[in-house]
Amino acid sequence: MTQNHYHDALIIGSGAAGLAAALTLAEHMSVAILSKTAIKSGSTWLAQGGIAAVLDNEDSVESHLQDTLIAGAGLCHADIVQRIAENGKDSIQWLQDMGVEFTPAAGKKGENDLHLTREGGHSHRRVIHHKDRTGRAVSSSLSDRVLEHKGIEVYENRIAIDLLKQADSNSSKIRCNGAYALDLNNTEVELHQARVVILATGGASKVYLYSTSPDGASGDGIAMAWRAGCRVANMEFNQFHPTCLHHPKARSFLLSEALRGEGAILKLPNGDTFMEKFDERAELAPRDVVARAIDHEMKRLGCDNVYLDISHRPADFVKEHFPTIYESCMELGIDITKEAIPVVPAAHYTCGGVLVDENGQTDLNNLYAIGEVSFTGMHGANRLASNSLLECIVYARLAANHISKRVRDIPAPDYAKPWDASQVTHSDEDVVISHNWDELRRFMWDYVGIVRTDKRLQRALHRVQLLQKEIQDYYSNYRISNDLIELRNLVVVAERIILSALQRRESRGLHYSLDYPDLLPIAQDTIMVPINFAGQDMIVSRDQA
Ligand code: FAD
Ligand code: SIN
Repeated sequence: MTQNHYHDALIIGSGAAGLAAALTLAEHMSVAILSKTAIKSGSTWLAQGGIAAVLDNEDSVESHLQDTLIAGAGLCHADIVQRIAENGKDSIQWLQDMGVEFTPAAGKKGENDLHLTREGGHSHRRVIHHKDRTGRAVSSSLSDRVLEHKGIEVYENRIAIDLLKQADSNSSKIRCNGAYALDLNNTEVELHQARVVILATGGASKVYLYSTSPDGASGDGIAMAWRAGCRVANMEFNQFHPTCLHHPKARSFLLSEALRGEGAILKLPNGDTFMEKFDERAELAPRDVVARAIDHEMKRLGCDNVYLDISHRPADFVKEHFPTIYESCMELGIDITKEAIPVVPAAHYTCGGVLVDENGQTDLNNLYAIGEVSFTGMHGANRLASNSLLECIVYARLAANHISKRVRDIPAPDYAKPWDASQVTHSDEDVVISHNWDELRRFMWDYVGIVRTDKRLQRALHRVQLLQKEIQDYYSNYRISNDLIELRNLVVVAERIILSALQRRESRGLHYSLDYPDLLPIAQDTIMVPINFAGQDMIVSRDQA
């Protein structure tokens, strides 16, 4: 029998966005969080560099806005950027109130005098951080507050499969009223019904063979929202972080951009520097520029990686500011205080996502999306470093405040259909999943990566459509598992990325096409509308009934 759970608000995902929303909502209603792994998880846990916010007297919101707009290459929504940047200082204060400790300025201990580091594309030092493990500090403090809050139930090892929908008696639209989730402890499917659902499932970088976020980022929220009838936007803008460690034993370990902010230099295998040839901002150019320059040099020289060198800075400074990176590299036999580190670009961040309004609302009533899963208009064609955690906190609180004002007017959810597993059997060929998984991520890497052509994109489209069919057949006939759910979502996301990339006939920000190297005069978002837009499939069937 399907287990039913009822909540006022259901949050899917326990990264910075989900946790911040839960803590804000729990003052007003009962909240449940589903997390497909442990509560301390997601890209948030891995975040290194920090959180961008204007705290320095010499800095200004206007300057943060301008830097974000420049990195975003004409596609940022300036009103949204302005709003998020304005909320930077307050968000840092809120995190401190929740117990997050940030690195103080040298010689200072007070919580108002924080060390500000620098990253690519920022014209000021404005990145607040906890050494080189900011995400861990944020995730730990917020999780601790969540776990001690009596109004929040946490369901770990629960992977949401799909969203529940019903006709909305308050409007002509369709509302979301919960989700099916697989309990990974016992492989039973549960029903979580709620007045309001928030997607906080993070990004989709796992669609690429090499990524800096190996766990979790399988685009589940984007795929679930798309299947439920929500628009998604700008899926072609996949950010590749320029400096991921290149080592056979650690293919996804990030080397924070803050290293370059504190003076690290990129070098070719022969020791020559090269970034100055590509951009006058050199190592501190925005990420798309640096990743493309590295890709160009690696292809030109036929080498497997380039190098990042911070060994000219004092060893004590490096160890103090970058303890995680220092220790992790040391374990692999690389002493970053003495030698350069082999690096390659890797998929890092999904700039597109589920289209939301200024309160985080999607196209379905009572369904919100916050954090990396969403498309707010903040990041444009290329996200500026350390703007993501900021957006997570700002939108989590905006959405939660919006929900709190209206939750009592939202009726409790009606009956929902129990999960039906009567027609499926156990598969005796799980190799289909692992094979398709590898194939998908490899052709996305080879054909839909940093530099694209129409021919490569068409090749990828052909393959992804074959995979879609095979995976859908498999999903309909066999019992579900974590890997199958993620794979089913990854093919949906991959197809959105490829189709969006084919639609963009220019090179802008992170989308670079050899067939269309120029910039079109008018910057436009790529908005994809599903055939069941806003639940129209349900409206039709209701009228017909
Ligand atoms: P996440 O933190 O990714 O959390 C998603 C959550 O959803 C996880 O708990 C996951 O288990 C859960 N989930 C997903 N699907 C399901 C499902 N189907 N069912 C149930 N649960 C599900 N940004 C910055 O601003 N500054 C940085 O310094 C920085 N450093 C980074 C370093 C690394 C290595 C990486 C990968 C990213 C970094 N970023 C940084 C980006 C930033 O960390 C992320 O964009 C941000 O943390 C996303 O937060 P989130 O809450 O949206 O999602
Ligand atoms: C980093 O530390 O380089 C990651 C920062 C980010 O992705 O914003």
